[in-house]
Amino acid sequence: MCGIVGVLGQHEVSPIILDALKRLEYRGYDSAGIATVNKGRLDRRRAVGKLIHLSDMLVHQPLPGRSGIGHTRWATHGGPSVANAHPHQVGRVAVVHNGIIENFRALREELAADGAVFTSQTDTETIVQLASQYLDQGMMPVQAARATLRRLDGAFALAFLFEGEEDMIICARRGSPLCIGHGEGEMYLGSDAIALAEMTNRITYLEEGDWAIVTRSGVQIFDADDRQTARPVTQINAAQARVDKSGHRHFMAKEMAEQPAVLQSAMGFYSGLDHGGVDLPAGLDFARADRLIMVACGTAYYACQVAKYWFEQFAGLPVELDIASEFRYREPVLGPQNMALFVSQSGETADTLAALRHVRPHVAQVVAVVNVPTSSIAREADLVLPIHAGPEIGVASTKAFTAQLQVLALLALRAGLERGRLGWEDYLARLGELRAAPGFVAQALDREDEIRRMTEMLAKARDVLFLGRGVMYPLALEGALKLKEISYIHAEAYAAGELKHGPIALIDKDLPVIVFAPHDALFEKTVSNMHEVMARQGRVLLISDAAGLAEAGEVPYSLQMPTVPDLIAPIVYAVPAQLIAYHTALHRGTDVDQPRNLAKSVTVE
Ligand code: G6P
Repeated sequence: MCGIVGVLGQHEVSPIILDALKRLEYRGYDSAGIATVNKGRLDRRRAVGKLIHLSDMLVHQPLPGRSGIGHTRWATHGGPSVANAHPHQVGRVAVVHNGIIENFRALREELAADGAVFTSQTDTETIVQLASQYLDQGMMPVQAARATLRRLDGAFALAFLFEGEEDMIICARRGSPLCIGHGEGEMYLGSDAIALAEMTNRITYLEEGDWAIVTRSGVQIFDADDRQTARPVTQINAAQARVDKSGHRHFMAKEMAEQPAVLQSAMGFYSGLDHGGVDLPAGLDFARADRLIMVACGTAYYACQVAKYWFEQFAGLPVELDIASEFRYREPVLGPQNMALFVSQSGETADTLAALRHVRPHVAQVVAVVNVPTSSIAREADLVLPIHAGPEIGVASTKAFTAQLQVLALLALRAGLERGRLGWEDYLARLGELRAAPGFVAQALDREDEIRRMTEMLAKARDVLFLGRGVMYPLALEGALKLKEISYIHAEAYAAGELKHGPIALIDKDLPVIVFAPHDALFEKTVSNMHEVMARQGRVLLISDAAGLAEAGEVPYSLQMPTVPDLIAPIVYAVPAQLIAYHTALHRGTDVDQPRNLAKSVTVE
C-alpha cells in the first residue's frame, strides 16, 4: 500500500510527480504529499484525502524545484491527517515510505530519549528522525541513509531527499517493490512501472535488499551487503502500462467490459502448438504432486476456491486451500511432494508473499498465478503463469478474477491430463469449452441494462444474502464481497445448503437474496433452498439459464444467463456478480473506483 515516486528532472517536477501519483492512487488515497529541493532548500506540500486536494493546493501554493519525491498514502500507523501525511521531514532530510517499520516503537523511544520531538504518529517519522540525527553527527547524506537503513526492520520501499542535494535521491527496497526509470538527463523512481509509464519505458527493478543512489546521470545500485551491483534495464511496453478509462465512466466499468478481450488474449498466449492443447511452463509436475496447497487473499482466494473443485474433479488432486493471513499461523503440515500455488493480481500482497516464503523450503514446487509478472510473488516462485489481464486500476477486482479462473482452469485440466484422469480427447473438449468463454462473457455483459434496473431494489437494502452451491458458492462469496466493497451494503454469502443452519433466521420481506444457480447437477437442491427463502417472503433474485428459469417457476426477480458448459459457468456468472455491485453502487452514489478505507494492493500484513 502507499505509492512512492521520485524525480530528478530538467524542469519543474511537482506536476510530473503529481501525474505519477495519479497512476499510483490505486495503492491508497488517504492523503498525498510532495517534497522538493529548490535552491538547496527542502520544501513540501501535503493534503488529506485524494490527490485532487493536493493538486488544488499546488495551484495556490506552487512547489518549485527540479528534484522531488511524492507519496500517496493508505493509513496504517496514525489516521489520515496532514501531520501523518508523507513526505516526512526532519531538519535536512525528507522521506517517503511504503510498508511498515516493525521496530519503530523501540526506535521512537530511543530517539525521544535523545531529545527527538515527534510530530506524527507514523512509523515513517522514525526514519527521518534517525537520518537527521546521523546528519547532525556529521555524516554525509549517503552515509546517513545507509546507517538509517541498517537500523530498520520490516518490509518497505522508501526514498530520501536531502537539503542541499539537488542531484540525488537515495532509495531502498526491502519487501516492497521499487523500480528506477531511466530518462534523457532525467531519472525517476516509483512503486511500479505504471507510475513511470508517461516518462520512460526503460526500467530497472530493484531486487530484494537493494538500495540505490540515483542522480541525473544514472544510478548506482548496492545489494543488501553493500556490494555495488548491476541490475538490468528492461524495456516495458509503454502502451500496456498506460492507463486511462477509454471513455468509460469508471475504471471498473472499463475493466468489466474488457473481459472478453482479456480472456481471448490470455487463451491465445497459452494456446500451444501441441495438437490444439496449451503451452504451460516447462517443469510443471502435477504427476508427482501428492497434494496442492493454494493460498491467496480476497478475490484471488475466491478464484482458488472455485479451482479447488476443478483440481479435485478433473485431476483427483487433493487440495488444501487457505487465506494467506491464516495459513502461516496455523503450522500447516507440508510435504516434499506438495505443490504450492499462490494466486495474486498484484503479486505484492504481503500476506500471500509471506506465505510463499514460508512454504518454499518445504515443498516440491512453488507456482504463481499473477497479473504483474515483475512482481515479488512472480520473482520468488519457481514457475509463473501470468494472467495477462493488463493493469487493473479499479479497487474492486473484476477482469483479474475471470482471468485467474481461466488460467486456473487450464492448470486443472493439465493436471487431469498429467495424472491420467483426463484422456487427450476429453482434455481437448474441455479446452474447447474454455475457448468459448469470451463469447459467453460478452453475452452476460449484454444483460447490463436489465441488471441496472434490478439494482434499484438492492440499493435500498440494508443487508443482502448471496447463495450458491458447488462452484457457485465461491461465486456467491465474490458477489457479496464486491457489493460490500463498493456499495457499502452489508452482504453475506452462504452455501445454499447451509442456509437452514442459521441465516434462514434473517429472512424477511426486506432481505434480498441473490441465488446463483445454473441448470447443472446441483440445480434442484439449490432451488429447493431458494423455495425455503421464498416461503418466508425473502425477495429472491434468481440468476440462472433458460432451462433453470423455466424449471424454477415464479420468482420475484430473475436474470437469464446464456446456457454454458459447467466448466465455464463460474467465469460467466462472475459478470452479473460484478454488474450487480457496480450498479447498486452507482444508485447509492459511492466512489466506485476508490471505495473508502480500501486499497488495491495490500502490502502490509
Ligand atoms: C485487496 C484488493 C482485492 C484483492 C486482494 C488480494 O483487498 O482490494 O481486490 O482481491 O487485495 O490482492 P491480490 O493483488 O493479491 O490479488
